[in-house]
Amino acid sequence: MDTVLVTGGAGFIGSCFIRHLLAGTSARVVDLDALTYAGNLANLRDLPDPGRHTFVHGDITNRKLVDDLLHRWEIDTIVHFAAESHVDRSIWGPMAFVQTNVVGTAILLEAARNAWLTDKILPVEKVRFHHVSTDEVFGDLGPDDPPFSETTPYAPNSPYAATKAASDHIVRAYGHTYGLPVTICNCSNNYGPRQHPEKLIPFMILAALEGRSLPIYGDGRNVRDWLYVEDHCAAIQAVLDRGLPGETYNVGGGTGQTNLELVRLLCSILDELLPGAAYVPHAKLMQFVGDRPGHDRRYAMDVGKIQRELGWTFRETLRSGLTKTVQWYLANPEWAASVRGQPVYQEWLAQNYVDRGASA
Ligand code: NAD
Ligand code: DAU
Repeated sequence: MDTVLVTGGAGFIGSCFIRHLLAGTSARVVDLDALTYAGNLANLRDLPDPGRHTFVHGDITNRKLVDDLLHRWEIDTIVHFAAESHVDRSIWGPMAFVQTNVVGTAILLEAARNAWLTDKILPVEKVRFHHVSTDEVFGDLGPDDPPFSETTPYAPNSPYAATKAASDHIVRAYGHTYGLPVTICNCSNNYGPRQHPEKLIPFMILAALEGRSLPIYGDGRNVRDWLYVEDHCAAIQAVLDRGLPGETYNVGGGTGQTNLELVRLLCSILDELLPGAAYVPHAKLMQFVGDRPGHDRRYAMDVGKIQRELGWTFRETLRSGLTKTVQWYLANPEWAASVRGQPVYQEWLAQNYVDRGASA
């Protein structure tokens, strides 16, 4: 890997991956991000060796721009994070998801095919298109079903999951039909520093700190498999280093918590870290609210393949990862305040929470 194009590098996982690359490799990083509501240049502050990072403000659907970047920088590796990523937003407005997640991925693949297979800017053995995908493409599990494996049939339920599934299929087809060297990882729920406050864990941390209610959708018994974001980045690195073109790898944290269990654990960590806070015990702030339409009940990942074949495993326990995460949000109040102060975020809160019956 000499020069990596990271798409969506101003988002939560993409910015963590850029830190990971700059700290652990000698690669140059070109970071293409449209800076949607979820993109944040503050996520790219204090990068290790920032001279190897170039930020390009632009959209993955801009074919000319992508062509130009691939040729000008002689990109050998694309790691594709850019996406609309929030399930609730996909229910309110699916077309942005179709545009970025499906059309955008197809445009990147076309540009890669042109640069690597037609123009042959580099030997094909040296290039890789890695697509970052989700466990949600597999649909949901009953309480006693075995975890998702790489061969579980796709059955996406939300518009978000459907667009990610479509993008996975297009990536696979470019590998199969054109011989483009592609890999995919399907990962479970990530958490950690710099996650947008619209997502469950940062939402709950920030609300608890201010004594606002903690809105639990439905009965709170939906199960998610939480993975610390740095463990996900290490898994992507393992796939780039040792994964085989054409393969997909499931990535997860082996946690399997209900939302109720997770939020209670988060509250107990807040109680421990802030024993004198006004809202101890923070779990008192939990409130059941209207459910997410089509809410998947349970996700769980079988990570045997990536463990056996690539030697990857997660390092962080849920408690240690959540403690680090809470500490990061406590240490960076200005980051959260600037995101939450944006009118677009306040509009989102009103749109998503008022009709669910959430109190302020
Ligand atoms: P995020 O919403 O925090 O960041 C997405 C980034 O993509 C933002 O910086 C945004 O500005 C950028 N972007 C969006 N549309 C773009 C476009 N058209 N052109 C260029 N940039 C654009 O998302 P995240 O949570 O960091 O997720 C990153 C990837 O990982 C996504 O593909 C997501 O589907 C996948 N994923 C996320 C999780 C998770 O739990 N967060 C789990 C598994 C997989
Ligand atoms: O599983 C991987 C996916 O995880 C990624 O592909 C997505 O990009 C990512 O957003 C995440 O999707 P989820 O829908 O699982 O994450 P979210 O943080 O939105 O919600 C986690 C669970 O918490 C889910 O069951 C819904 C519930 N929830 C969420 C919010 C925001 C609540 O109960 N209350 C809330 O306020």
